[in-house]
Parts: sequence; structure tokens; C-alpha cells
Amino acid sequence: MAVFGPKANLAVNAALVGAGGLFLTLLLMIWVVPVSGYNTLERYVPVQPVPFSHKHHVSGLGLDCRYCHATVEVSQNAGMPATKVCMTCHSQIWTNAALLAPVRQSLAEDKSLRWTRVYTLPDYVYFDHSIHIAKGVGCTECHGPIGDMPLTWKATTLYMSWCLSCHRNPAPHLRPLNDVFDPHWRRSPETPSGAQLMAAYHIHPKTLSDCGVCHR
Ligand code: HEC
Ligand code: HEC
Ligand code: HEC
Ligand code: HEC
Ligand code: HEC
Repeated sequence: MAVFGPKANLAVNAALVGAGGLFLTLLLMIWVVPVSGYNTLERYVPVQPVPFSHKHHVSGLGLDCRYCHATVEVSQNAGMPATKVCMTCHSQIWTNAALLAPVRQSLAEDKSLRWTRVYTLPDYVYFDHSIHIAKGVGCTECHGPIGDMPLTWKATTLYMSWCLSCHRNPAPHLRPLNDVFDPHWRRSPETPSGAQLMAAYHIHPKTLSDCGVCHR
């Protein structure tokens, strides 16, 4: 009688397939998960107290970013709109909408709305909006097509490698200063070249990837 019956072959094959599968799963976890959106929460759409739509307010009504994110040109933080900014309109339109009940309550109780952050960096990273705005980096370069988002989703990984890929070669990401806030801006034949903009803004990428730029 044979020591290994026909069933043994089956068992060995099954074990091999199992080991192969495990190996592939591990590879996926090591290589794919860190760069896919899953781990970085790219495309992440957090739940908000009010389903605020940039698509409606920016592309539909034509509001400028600075109407609500008033400090973006002058400070590190872009800032969030105070409830009374919403109420300049919503005390007159959609005044009874259930969707806007948290906004009315916030005004009545004099407590700010608590928006869930979409973009956050760890504390050990230094970031500043104003320098990017002053050097012609448009909002959509970092925040994606926000003017078309019914709910805000995260458009980039915020990985160090993402920051660095632009800091090493900013030219293709620059635009004229007048167009920084335009959520639908596209390069046209009249747009000055990346090299011209680099010169106009005095950008010297040589030191822009030094560790101390972002880790101070
Ligand atoms: C009418 C007010 C208003 C205008 C105008 C507006 N926003 Fe916002 N924005 C908000 C509110 C409210 C939130 C918080 C809710 C959310 O995340 O959608 C927000 C959130 C954001 C966020 C996510 C912030 C985070 O990390 O949580 C970004 C990025 C942003 N806005 C960019 C822009 C840009 C770029 C423009 C101009 C093209 C713009 N916004 C115009 C009100 C506005
Ligand atoms: C300049 C006027 C204006 C301001 C400022 C404004 N809204 Fe609106 N909002 C509107 C109008 C107009 C509509 C109706 C849009 C429609 O249905 O066509 C609307 C609709 C909405 C809706 C219903 C959903 C939707 O988008 O259709 C929500 C929620 C809302 N606004 C929240 C806010 C919040 C929160 C703020 C403050 C951060 C704000 N709005 C500031 C004019 C404004
Ligand atoms: C170079 C990339 C970059 C550009 C350009 C940029 N942002 Fe941001 N934005 C970020 C990062 C990174 C964060 C997260 C900052 C943090 O956690 O400290 C952020 C956060 C925000 C927030 C959350 C609140 C806050 O104050 O941090 C808002 C609102 C915002 N950006 C709006 C804008 C607007 C409006 C523009 C254009 C005028 C803009 N951003 C341009 C990278 C950028
Ligand atoms: C799309 C291009 C782009 C991206 C993405 C970008 N930056 Fe920048 N950054 C620039 C440009 C352009 C400047 C201006 C350089 C200059 O003034 O010479 C700058 C300047 C800075 C400065 C100021 C440098 C100084 O010398 O004072 C800091 C800090 C900074 N970036 C941090 C970051 C961080 C952190 C991230 C990622 C979260 C990031 N940046 C992503 C283009 C970018
Ligand atoms: C343009 C901005 C920028 C520059 C320049 C930069 N970093 Fe970072 N760094 C970041 C950001 C953003 C993060 C957080 C996101 C992440 O983990 O990728 C980070 C995270 C890190 C971390 C945490 C690592 C981890 O994976 O959790 C270390 C360590 C680090 N950086 C070291 C360096 C060193 C060393 C240099 C110089 C060679 C450098 N960084 C240059 C933006 C920068």
C-alpha cells in the first residue's frame, strides 16, 4: 500500500495554493495598501453637521473662496466661515429648511459649527497657505476640483512625497496670481510658461526640499 494516497496530493496542492494566496495577500498589504487611497483616506468624505456644497455655493452662486476662508492669503490657516457668514443669505433663503437647523441653532446659541476636518497634517509638519497663494499655487492644485464637489472629499494623500514632488519641480503647478482662486482654471496658450512664472515669483527650488523647510 502506498504511503501517500491520492488524497495526500490534493492536500499538498491545497496547501500550496493557500501559501501562494497568503503570499499575494502579504504583497498587496506591503505594496498596494500604502499607496492606494485606502490607507491615506484619499477620497474620504467625512460626515458634516450640515451637507455644505461647494458645487452649489462656488460654481453655482459664484462665491469667492475668500468670502468664507478669509485668512488664506495672509496666514498659515485658511480659516472657516463664522455662522453669521452663512446667515447673510440663509436668514433670507431656505430659512426653514431642516438641513439648515444646525446653522440656526449655532447662531441662536452663539456656538460655532463643528466641521469635521478633511485635510490635516501631523503637528511636526510646518505648512503655510499664504506663501503658496503668493507664489501662484492654485487651491485646486492641492484640494482638487472642489468647485464641483457636492460634499468635500480629500483629493490628495498629503504624504511627504506628495509635497516633495511639487517642491522639486514647481513650474508645471504655477499660474498667474489672478487665477489662484479660480476652481475651473486651465492653462491656455496665453498663459505664461512655468519657467516664466518661476522667474517672476523668484522661486528657487534648490533649497525647497531641505528638511528644515517643513520640519522646523
Ligand atoms: C459659502 C462659504 C464657502 C465658500 C465660498 C468656500 N468654502 Fe470651502 N468650506 C466651507 C465650509 C462650510 C467648509 C466645511 C465643510 C466641508 O468640508 O465641506 C469648507 C471646507 C473646505 C475645505 C476642506 C477643509 C478641511 O480640511 O476640512 C477646503 C479645502 C475648502 N473648503 C476649499 C475651498 C476653496 C478652494 C474655495 C474656493 C474655490 C472654497 N472653499 C469656497 C465654506 C466655503
Ligand atoms: C451668498 C449667499 C449664500 C451664503 C453666504 C451661503 N449660502 Fe447656502 N445656499 C444659498 C442658496 C441660494 C442656496 C440654494 C441653492 C439652490 O438650491 O439652488 C443655498 C443652499 C444651501 C444648502 C442646501 C443644500 C444645497 O447646497 O442646495 C445648505 C445645506 C447650505 N446652503 C448651507 C450653507 C452654509 C453652511 C453656509 C455658510 C458656510 C452657507 N450655506 C452660505 C446661498 C448662500
Ligand atoms: C500647497 C498645497 C495647498 C494649497 C495651494 C492650498 N491648500 Fe488648503 N490645505 C493644504 C493643507 C496641507 C491643509 C492641511 C493643513 C494642516 O493640517 O495644517 C489645508 C487645509 C485647508 C483648509 C482647512 C482649514 C485650515 O485653515 O487649515 C481650508 C479651508 C483650505 N485648506 C482652503 C484652501 C483654499 C481656499 C486655498 C486656495 C486659496 C487653499 N486651501 C490652497 C494645502 C493647500
Ligand atoms: C503644487 C505645488 C506644491 C505643493 C503640493 C506643496 N508646495 Fe509648499 N511650496 C510650493 C511653492 C511654489 C513654494 C514657494 C517657494 C518659494 O517661495 O521659493 C512653497 C513653499 C513652501 C513653504 C515655505 C518655504 C520657505 O522657504 O519659507 C513651506 C513651509 C511649504 N511650502 C510646505 C509644504 C508642505 C508641508 C506641503 C505638503 C503638505 C507642500 N508645501 C506642498 C509649492 C508646493
Ligand atoms: C515639502 C515638505 C517636506 C519636506 C521638505 C520634508 N518633509 Fe518630511 N514630512 C512631510 C510631511 C507632510 C510628512 C507627514 C506625511 C507623511 O508621513 O508622509 C513628513 C513626515 C516625515 C517623517 C515621518 C515619517 C513617517 O513616515 O511617518 C520623517 C522622519 C520625515 N518627514 C523626515 C524628513 C527628512 C529627513 C527630510 C529632509 C530630507 C524631510 N522630511 C523633508 C513634509 C516634508
